[in-house]
Amino acid sequence: MTPSKRLEIATDIAHRAGLMIVEARRQGHLQERYKGGQELVTDTDVAVDTFISEQLDTVFPDEQRLSEELTPQQDDLSQTGSLWVIDPIDGTVNFVHGLRHVAVSIGWFDGTRMVIGVVHAPFLDETFTAIAGQGAWCNGQPIHVSQTETLSRCLVATGFPYQRESRPPLMRRLQAVLSHCQDIRRNGSAALDLCDVACGRLNAYYESVSPWDFAAGLLIAHEAGARTGHLYPVPEGVPPELYGENLLVSTPVIHEPLGKLLRQADRNTASHASGKF
Ligand code: IPD
Ligand code: CA
Ligand code: CA
Repeated sequence: MTPSKRLEIATDIAHRAGLMIVEARRQGHLQERYKGGQELVTDTDVAVDTFISEQLDTVFPDEQRLSEELTPQQDDLSQTGSLWVIDPIDGTVNFVHGLRHVAVSIGWFDGTRMVIGVVHAPFLDETFTAIAGQGAWCNGQPIHVSQTETLSRCLVATGFPYQRESRPPLMRRLQAVLSHCQDIRRNGSAALDLCDVACGRLNAYYESVSPWDFAAGLLIAHEAGARTGHLYPVPEGVPPELYGENLLVSTPVIHEPLGKLLRQADRNTASHASGKF
């Protein structure tokens, strides 16, 4: 099947998943609970994941899936073949609080690289798509990253892990960005942060996330002209497009200086923690 046909199918599934999300909010009474004590999940997350997985299974019965709520096994991504990577609701906290930064994210990795990506934001009426080597679009219109060249003019997005004990080391990065860049945003959906970099609303994004949070959005950003990468080397054998630790995605010119700034902040954190201050 051609990549454009795959994208068409995935986009249709994402749209229908989006309708489920909108309807669930309209009806209210979201059944909330916490995975592992701190990570919010609702019945809608699971229902939408089930819907997407069943739909994909109908058309692609022999292809593997990595999805946040149903099949989150991440061991040995170095051995993976063809793989659908799914986040049924990216932005669950926003979803529960009535905010609009919520997205369905579906990407397809062919065993070597990400080939298609779709990120659909049902409350914003925006659907971002990309095909490897062919470009990126928002609601069918081509999109491109910003041309910002100065760090001081950059609007930077990031996010924080659910585990509160993992947040303090990220404060130095925050401090560095707030001191050197225009400002920072924490919009609550990694997938949409990447799409906002792709269409030039944001100039950069950094975070450590899981494959389902970023796989589709990263391809969209890349195809829109962003420089995508990691602050530190990716372990050997792991496909970088599925490795979510220390991602940095930005307008090309600022990738280097922003990377430097964030790594410097990490060094300050390390020496602070070891009492070298
Ligand atoms: C979360 C969002 C958020 C990011 C978190 C993710 P979820 O995904 O992408 O922006 O900061 O790290 O876990 O839980 O809403 O699917
Ligand atoms: Ca997510
Ligand atoms: Ca999710």
